[in-house]
Amino acid sequence: MLPEDAERRQVLEHHARRILGAAGYQRIETPTFEATELFSRGVGEATDIVQKEMYTFDDAGGRSITLRPEGTAPVCRAYIEHGMHKLPQPVKLWYLGAFYRHEAPQAGRYRQFWQVGAEVIGSAAPTADAELIVLLAELLEALGVRETRLRLSSLGTPETRAEYREELRAFLRANQDRLSDEVRSRIDANPMRAFDSGDPSTREVMAGAPTLLDRLSGEDAEHFAEVRRLLDDAGLRYELDPTLVRGLDYYTRTVFEFNSDALGAQSGVGGGGRYDRLMEQLEGPPTPASGWAAGIERMLLAAGELPIARDPVDLYVALADPAAGPQAFELAYEARRAGLSAQLELAGRSLKGQLKHAGRLRSRYVAIIGSEPHIGLKDMEAGEQRELEPAAVIPTILRGSRL
Ligand code: HAM
Repeated sequence: MLPEDAERRQVLEHHARRILGAAGYQRIETPTFEATELFSRGVGEATDIVQKEMYTFDDAGGRSITLRPEGTAPVCRAYIEHGMHKLPQPVKLWYLGAFYRHEAPQAGRYRQFWQVGAEVIGSAAPTADAELIVLLAELLEALGVRETRLRLSSLGTPETRAEYREELRAFLRANQDRLSDEVRSRIDANPMRAFDSGDPSTREVMAGAPTLLDRLSGEDAEHFAEVRRLLDDAGLRYELDPTLVRGLDYYTRTVFEFNSDALGAQSGVGGGGRYDRLMEQLEGPPTPASGWAAGIERMLLAAGELPIARDPVDLYVALADPAAGPQAFELAYEARRAGLSAQLELAGRSLKGQLKHAGRLRSRYVAIIGSEPHIGLKDMEAGEQRELEPAAVIPTILRGSRL
């Protein structure tokens, strides 16, 4: 991360802190690596993440550890380990850090990438889901992420899903002579893939296929209807996408994803959903929960120009005489202790070069220290200079008055 990137990230972090902090979310940071088992159990053995994308190795003690590919399972582990179920519920947390997935790198896809994430643990309310979604929408808007689309669906429970997959397989088999070879060969392994096919005849068949949204149980359907009602009330537009599949196994009920059409193939800027059973899978108390994570590189790629506020430089200490080094060092040090921002000439430039450099830094004042007992203080805005007693330099700057 180069300095220019760091500044844009700082703006992003500022907005995340402001938006999530105002909604009562508290910061949490979990370790960069965890026991491998946490992810294989939490994210799901059958997922691409666990099968292909984890950086897993044995440490010197023979323990299998993994660089975290995502943040939800670690946050749940921390919730269990630190008895957070005893706190007033729900516990609302957010995080920002680096994550690791062994994928083929391309624009917007990296092996080390950063996420900002939010989790609400201990609430089953549809309001928690809707609030999470509007908070992510707010963050994307604050960053000026362009051309976003929100896709929304509900996955119901794992049982409903298993029944539905059987029904879909039966439907695909009944229509198999009109399906592409590829879809036909995957009916058993992954029937959902049929919805993504570009083959015209397959698409025609799929237009009449049953969807999971039509098969939700009464309570799941009600929960989803309420999430939709809340989003409608908030005026947030979304597309219902019954084929929305997320790459992690822990989801139940609500799932969502924001995509940006300003990005190429890797258009998912952020996504998440409800994961009511994950805590139990990790041997914690049954606890409903919901959350999202958004990719920092992707958000910044899809964001326009971000207004970057550079920190001001109050004082640049220039040397008219190299022998005055120690005095200059002390003045810069005292200025910082007085709460000013102050920099010191370190490159041996000529006085002219130093003034030019102070201009580049947009320093408000330049103190010029030479062999005389007085210090020249130059007001860079007014262009005026005055000779001052050394002890008067900092108070003069602090008063902020024109010279
Ligand atoms: P995810 O969809 O796997 O969800 O990742 C969230 C976001 O991280 C993606 O939308 C994308 O912007 C970014 N991302 C993922 N992989 C990469 C990569 N290789 N390079 C760059 N960016 C990437 C999760 O991780 C879940 N933990 C979200 C969640 C939280 N669900 C519930 N709570």
